[in-house]
Amino acid sequence: MQSIEEQAWQLLEESIIYYRGRPVGTVAANDVSQSALNYDHCFIRDFASSAFLFLIKGRYDIVRNFLEETLRLQPKKEKLDAYTPGRGLIPASFKVVSINGKEYLESDFGENAIARVTPVDSCLWWIIILRAYVKATKDLQFALQPEFQEGIALIMELCLATRFDMYPTLLVPDGSCMIHRRLGIYGYPLEIQALFYAALRAARQLLVCAGDEEIVIGIDKRLPLLQNHIRQHYWIDINRLNVIYRFKCEEYGLTAINLFNIYSDSIPYADLAVWLPKNGGYLAGNVGPSQLDTRFFSLGNLMAIISSLVSEQQSQAIMTLIEAQWEDLVGTMPMKICFPALEKEEYRIFTGCDPKNIPWSYHNAGNWPVLLWILTAAAQKTGRKNIAKNAMELAENRLSEDEWPEYYDGARGMLIGREARRYQTWTITGFLLAKELMLHPEYLELFSFEEFDVENAGYACNL
Ligand code: GLC
Repeated sequence: MQSIEEQAWQLLEESIIYYRGRPVGTVAANDVSQSALNYDHCFIRDFASSAFLFLIKGRYDIVRNFLEETLRLQPKKEKLDAYTPGRGLIPASFKVVSINGKEYLESDFGENAIARVTPVDSCLWWIIILRAYVKATKDLQFALQPEFQEGIALIMELCLATRFDMYPTLLVPDGSCMIHRRLGIYGYPLEIQALFYAALRAARQLLVCAGDEEIVIGIDKRLPLLQNHIRQHYWIDINRLNVIYRFKCEEYGLTAINLFNIYSDSIPYADLAVWLPKNGGYLAGNVGPSQLDTRFFSLGNLMAIISSLVSEQQSQAIMTLIEAQWEDLVGTMPMKICFPALEKEEYRIFTGCDPKNIPWSYHNAGNWPVLLWILTAAAQKTGRKNIAKNAMELAENRLSEDEWPEYYDGARGMLIGREARRYQTWTITGFLLAKELMLHPEYLELFSFEEFDVENAGYACNL
């Protein structure tokens, strides 16, 4: 009899996409019982966990091919018109199509996606995957090839471009990341900020100064500002809640303390005061003008730990909160994409009455097994191995019995997601990668970062 792990490896193998005879990615899901829609595509964000596993197993060719092919899909020229993707963007997904017997790659930058959402996270994940490849293979020359240097520089130009706002965070439209439907995360959502930080760190290591000095200077300036901004303004714990609760409003001028003019009545401080454990804390989902979204978003918080966007103390506090509010944040399947769900009027206003995002389903506080790897990685980085162990115990048998669903529904994640695909690749890789990280914490290096040190940020260092 095949073990669960053997089964998972085999499924991963079956998910590989071949293009002109070479492996280039993995499909999002292999569920023959439902119409594929775009689940037969390779999504950049979904491929990240596949890539880390292939690198761990020495299957460098797939990751190298993926990086080369996706780089070719990146537009290098100025936009043709408003409806075409901008220079530097990396598509959300791609698939192989056959025309007159010849294979081509067809990409989706959001022009086909439901609601026509442009992915912002893809280009950030792409750089993170590239750095992992260089770390695993020790082949820095690969990233130093001119076309790769250009690719990274174009992404950085997109991210660091002067915009209308004056924050170090990245301003994006609603649904520009893993949650690509309207969910009230327009503006400065945490997931994007954490990925942005990690991508800046990775780009800083991979860019050769010559020719790109302006970009490197731009990155060096941005990193500490972004870090301080997030550590200060996104952080919520009991002390901070006390400050916010007593905020004065309508402060004008440079001496203002309540910089964003947050009205404390807009935040559920009574619930939070009960929910937050003494030494626990987390990063808010979003911060903007008179806006403090106090929902807990898992990917952003965990990525903030892995990338050292948050301090060591804050990292410990986030893990303490996850442990203390295990039922809410992990429930019966690691783990919630966000918590709590938007309900009633809020659900209607923020989602636009999206039937797939009803309370405690899908993006609106569903449980996503893919998050198991990143929870495990954060647990390893903070030395909280028990959290990883307990999470794995919940997932292990159930995932294969349930045929590897994309997500689970319900306040505790007891129900298989109503529209969840089965044999979802990142559910499988989330499980396998978590297993690898538990046994070999050294693999964490592929995608984690130590505290930022401007003196040692360059490519010769820390790779
Ligand atoms: C879902 C997720 C998205 C993912 C895609 C493919 O739509 O919301 O983040 O990339 O499926 O798995």
